[in-house]
Amino acid sequence: MILIIDFGSQYNQLIARRVREHRVYCRIEPPRISSAEIKALSPDGIILSGGPASIYEENSPRVDIEIFDLGIPILGICYGMQYMADALGGEVKRAKKREYGLAELRIKDATGIFYGIEEKTKCWMSHGDTVSSLPRGFKVTASTAGTGVAATENPAKRFYGLQFHPEVAHTPKGKTMLKNFLFATCGCRKTWTMKSFIKESIQEVRCLVGDKKVILGLSGGVDSSVTALLLHRAIGKQLTCIFIDNGLLRQGETEQVKLLFKKYFKVNLRFVSARRKFLNLLKGVVDPEKKRKIIGRTFIEVFEKEARKLQGVEFLAQGTLYPDIIESMSAFGGPSAVIKSHHNVGGLPKNMKLKLIEPLKHLFKDEVRVLGKELGLSEGLIWRQPFPGPGLAVRIISDVTQARLSILRKADAILIEEIKENGLYKKLWQSFAVLLPLKSVGIMGDKRTYEYIAAIRAVTSADAMTADWARLPHSLLGRISNRIINEVRGVNRVVYDISSKPPSTIEWE
Ligand code: XMP
Repeated sequence: MILIIDFGSQYNQLIARRVREHRVYCRIEPPRISSAEIKALSPDGIILSGGPASIYEENSPRVDIEIFDLGIPILGICYGMQYMADALGGEVKRAKKREYGLAELRIKDATGIFYGIEEKTKCWMSHGDTVSSLPRGFKVTASTAGTGVAATENPAKRFYGLQFHPEVAHTPKGKTMLKNFLFATCGCRKTWTMKSFIKESIQEVRCLVGDKKVILGLSGGVDSSVTALLLHRAIGKQLTCIFIDNGLLRQGETEQVKLLFKKYFKVNLRFVSARRKFLNLLKGVVDPEKKRKIIGRTFIEVFEKEARKLQGVEFLAQGTLYPDIIESMSAFGGPSAVIKSHHNVGGLPKNMKLKLIEPLKHLFKDEVRVLGKELGLSEGLIWRQPFPGPGLAVRIISDVTQARLSILRKADAILIEEIKENGLYKKLWQSFAVLLPLKSVGIMGDKRTYEYIAAIRAVTSADAMTADWARLPHSLLGRISNRIINEVRGVNRVVYDISSKPPSTIEWE
């Protein structure tokens, strides 16, 4: 196992991804972790991540200095290297010129972390500080035109420092460098596979749960579906999934979930039809945040009521993923943490006095997909685009009615069908229809029409924090528009949303 100390770099999750791509398990922990705790985890190696701070600033993040006495190999990246240099008696100064972007790395010594890499290679730099004097026992192993100490090592202690970022794709040999560190230096073995994960998780869950019961809110999304199947394998009928039909789902979704989980996987599923309740409460509500609150509150209420009908439940399972955990414990809970919490509609009851089980909490999304496949989920479900908790309610501008939902469902189904047929579904972060209950004039046959407008939203994004509108082919847009206007009664005009996030958001409400 590799331990990554999170000094706040925007790339720290990427470091973890890269380590896991080498089939080595890793964990990210904040700098406040003590050396005793690290010792207890007994990692094979430690990576000190980059970060936005300067080591000479007051309150710059530091990790317990005793980590350097544990005899564990350490790789410091960017700020991580500067921290190591400073902690061990070297010196870090503001660089004369900030170095940002691609640079040519000249390797002096193709051993250790640079083993097998040619003398000149590209690397990605992003720093304002530089190591001006090395601690005793360290030597320079590479430099760039702008940075004397672009890499350093103390081979006797197995300490390495890289001023650049080996984890980003712009450093083409970064993967080899990490590989050298993981296998040659730390002696890791390639044991991290989804098969081994399933085996270990099943044991862990069985041990934790014993003969008690577990409940899970199943939404039909990837995370809750994979959680359900993993738990089902571990504890079978001791797991009860609760699916709440809030009437705000897309076409065919409710039936799909029922068929798949109940009939095919034979999961203990309680299906709650609460369409009318949700719609009644949403009647006349226009404000998007009010809609979210009503839906969130009602979801919890319905869930609790259903859960209370079950005897002897002691655990509540959730499909929390690793990025959520990292963000919530990060020492630098930046704006992203705040923005996301507002999206946590569909969060589950806190006052039910149930113990939490989160079997995916150490996995990244792409690992969850591999796991889902391993557990028998179809490609279609595994690659489903994200769908907001409040569902179609935030895709109908103004108030939600049964008739509007029905129009939006049909338009959305056509859009998705066309996007899939054109092989674009997996390439887009999200693609969906929005209903604008504004009426505009049209002409159909010989008749004047006066009907609603549908908007098409399709975006590319890496993490939903920023997004760009997708450059869909005009011919495809034309086909979607044609089909929606011809096949969906109630819409006579289709528009394409060409706004990016920021300043717009992905959803319209
Ligand atoms: P925005 O619209 O803020 O959305 O750009 C970013 C991502 O979050 C999803 N989203 C939500 N998810 N509850 C959710 O569970 C919500 O209230 C909510 N609002 C937006 C949105 O689909 C996108 O992926």
